Amino acid sequence: MGEAPYTPDLFGRADCMAPWNETVTEGVVHLHHYALAKERELAAAIKSVIHVSPLRHMVTPGGFRMSVSTSSCGQAGWITDGAGYRYSSRDPLTGKAWPEMPALFMQLAQSAANEAGYPDFLPDSCLINRYRPGTKMSLHQDKDERNLGQPIVSISLGLPAIFQFGGDERSDKTQRIALMHGDVFVWGGVSRLKYHGILPLKEGSHPIFGANRFNLTFRRAR
Ligand code: SIN
Ligand code: FE2
Repeated sequence: MGEAPYTPDLFGRADCMAPWNETVTEGVVHLHHYALAKERELAAAIKSVIHVSPLRHMVTPGGFRMSVSTSSCGQAGWITDGAGYRYSSRDPLTGKAWPEMPALFMQLAQSAANEAGYPDFLPDSCLINRYRPGTKMSLHQDKDERNLGQPIVSISLGLPAIFQFGGDERSDKTQRIALMHGDVFVWGGVSRLKYHGILPLKEGSHPIFGANRFNLTFRRAR
């Protein structure tokens, strides 16, 4: 009966790029290739947000400048400075409200959450993280949100990264998960406060995003 023929889809993509879901542990789902079909629209939407609220390297409460550069859109934006980690309705750089969350961001975040078993996700915040080769994010918990009943939806675009997903203590063993361009990672429920981070990004270049990895983190802050 032979092998199935090679059948690219309308856009010339091979079947291997079709989305598929992987449950990582309780409350945690890796949606492979989930955002791939919207890569160009996502790139354009990121560009429009960072045109208004530019990417910048914020300073941690301990006085260290972050290697990741960030911006936000939505009702609340995550910020850090000498006064601590928190959410703010205004961009401290522009003094104005953060740009509105693009409709595509909201649609993708909600449909991904639904796909992962969180049908009522209503994010009010999207943090945009830009990583260059060599950039990392140390193990941390996302705990600045008032509503920990809602999950976190994280979209990866551009260069691949190794995501570390750990336990309730920083010193707990971590799993290493490769997050590729177009992947969406969702965690919540009993796993909402697990430690996680990104290992230093490898050199490389992506046809749309260049020598960058963009991560969109959707959360309900308030
Ligand atoms: C974060 O945990 O804040 C970012 C995770 C990522 O870049 O995938
Ligand atoms: Fe995080």
